[in-house]
Amino acid sequence: MFSHPEVATQPPVALITGANAGIGQVTAIELAKKGIHVVLATRSEQSTQPLLKQIRQMTQSPESARWLPLDLADLDSVRACAQSFLALNLPVRYLINNAGVAGARGLTKQGFEWAFGVNHLGHFLLTRLLFERLKQTPEARVVTVASRAHLLAFNGLNWAALQRPTQSLTTAKEYGVSKLANILFSAELGRQLIGTGVSAYSVHPGVVATSLWRHVPKFFLPVLKMRPMLNAEQGARTTLHCVLDAPQTETGLYYADARVQSPSKIAQDSELARHLWEKSMQWTAAYAQ
Ligand SMILES: NC(=O)c1ccc[n+]([C@@H]2O[C@H](COP(=O)([O-])OP(=O)(O)OC[C@H]3O[C@@H](n4cnc5c(N)ncnc54)[C@H](OP(=O)(O)O)[C@@H]3O)[C@@H](O)[C@H]2O)c1
Repeated sequence: MFSHPEVATQPPVALITGANAGIGQVTAIELAKKGIHVVLATRSEQSTQPLLKQIRQMTQSPESARWLPLDLADLDSVRACAQSFLALNLPVRYLINNAGVAGARGLTKQGFEWAFGVNHLGHFLLTRLLFERLKQTPEARVVTVASRAHLLAFNGLNWAALQRPTQSLTTAKEYGVSKLANILFSAELGRQLIGTGVSAYSVHPGVVATSLWRHVPKFFLPVLKMRPMLNAEQGARTTLHCVLDAPQTETGLYYADARVQSPSKIAQDSELARHLWEKSMQWTAAYAQ
């Protein structure tokens, strides 16, 4: 168990990526209301300050929330974020891999397709670097926000394309691939963590009116809006269910509408999940020391 002498008396800790906006912001507020210490890992302190202030006022405690810099498009930044977290000497009861991007194009700093690099590989490295701390924390959970958009990745993973700039016109295909990777990662994480007391969940939050869609080409927006979108509070519901209520024994599964659902057949391919895990281990090896 985690040896810090104050653990028994400390509030549980949640590390939430992309907590300055949308679903992540609501998740942070709701967890802070429950007395959970929230660590907000985001790209910009300035954009996170209003939330930090809100949570500290709401809880009447300056200790209830803190900020850590994290740019998932840069594995150096991911490593620095994990090191800063580990240096706080806190347990990590909940790691919430929430941040995500849609509609952006190009390559991340280390040469991965943008959506794959940010949505999957950055979170893979963050989780990898926190692996031991997670195992040392009783009943720890890793919740990864995926998407039903993984259905767009019906051809599975093209390994070469993951290291090429975004090709598709709408970027929907690459987004779908990154979200398929989220589900495969969470399923394999569940298998890797069997017997450690840590459980893993992947989530489809619904189609939610957030700033996620700001970079998506305008002609694609009517497709998204064919049905009324959820608000961010509704969008955080399944994440919160996985953090607070889902049974620990349901590890590695995919949730939507706050219950277990079946993702696509490819997303249930354990061989593919294992292969993605091994590739991701290789790709992040230089940053995992
Ligand atoms: N909205 C939906 O309909 C929907 C549907 C299915 C799944 N999801 C998933 O839900 C999650 C949350 O999205 P949301 O809808 O709440 O969107 P959002 O309001 O745009 O929030 C996305 C968060 O990710 C952060 N982010 C983007 N690129 C990043 C990077 N390189 N490094 C670190 N953080 C980065 C953003 O930070 P900045 O503010 O700095 O950009 C923001 O905090 C995502 O994983 C998304 O794929 C959303």
